[in-house]
Amino acid sequence: MKLQTTKYEKLFSTPVLRFHVEGHDDLNTALLREGNDMRALSEGVSKSNRAGWHSEGNLFKRKTACVQTLKTLVTDSIAAANAQIGARADFDELSLKLFGWMNMNPAGGYNAPHTHPGAQWSGVYYVSQPAVETGNAGMIEFLDPRSDLPNWRILKAPAFRLKKKLRPMPGDMILFPSYLVHWVYPNESEEERVSIAFNATFKTRRKS
Ligand SMILES: [Fe+2]
Repeated sequence: MKLQTTKYEKLFSTPVLRFHVEGHDDLNTALLREGNDMRALSEGVSKSNRAGWHSEGNLFKRKTACVQTLKTLVTDSIAAANAQIGARADFDELSLKLFGWMNMNPAGGYNAPHTHPGAQWSGVYYVSQPAVETGNAGMIEFLDPRSDLPNWRILKAPAFRLKKKLRPMPGDMILFPSYLVHWVYPNESEEERVSIAFNATFKTRRKS
C-alpha cells in the first residue's frame, strides 16, 4: 500500500498587500504640512494611539490637493486588492466609504493591538518614518486571527507563525482586512513617525 496526497488546500487565507507610491516626496511634504495645520487647531482624539496625536473626524473630507491625491491612491489600492482577491461583486452596485485619520507618534508613542470593526479593508499610508530605526521600533505587526494556534508552535511551520511584522518606508501603503489584529511598536527615535490610517467600507448602493 502506498499513501498518496491527492489534495492540498490553503483555506481561509488572510490577504495583506503592500504598495509603494513612486515620487511621493512632494505629496508627503504637503501631507505633513496639512497635519501640522490640523494639529495647531485640534488636540486630536484618543483611540489606539498611546502618547501620540490622532486627528479628529474624517481626513478625506478635506479638499486640499494632497488629501484628495491620497484619497485617489487609496481608492486605487482598494481596487487592486479587490482584483487580487478575485472579488466578483458588481462594484457599480456598491458604494465605497473611506474614513481616514492621521497619526503622529513622538518618541515612545505606539498603537496598542486593535482591529477596525465594521469595515472590509483597512490600511496605512506612511508619510514619514524616522530615518534610523533598529530592532522592532516603528514596525507594524499583525497577529494571526485563528484560534488555538499556540498548540502549533511546536512544529515551527511558517503557515502557523502567529504573527508577522513589517517595516514600512515613507511612500508605502499597507492594506489588510479590517478584522486583522495589529499594533505598532514604540517609536524609539526623537523624530516623529507620521502615518495616515483608513477604513474602506462597501455598502449596497440604494436604488433611487
Ligand atoms: Fe489600526
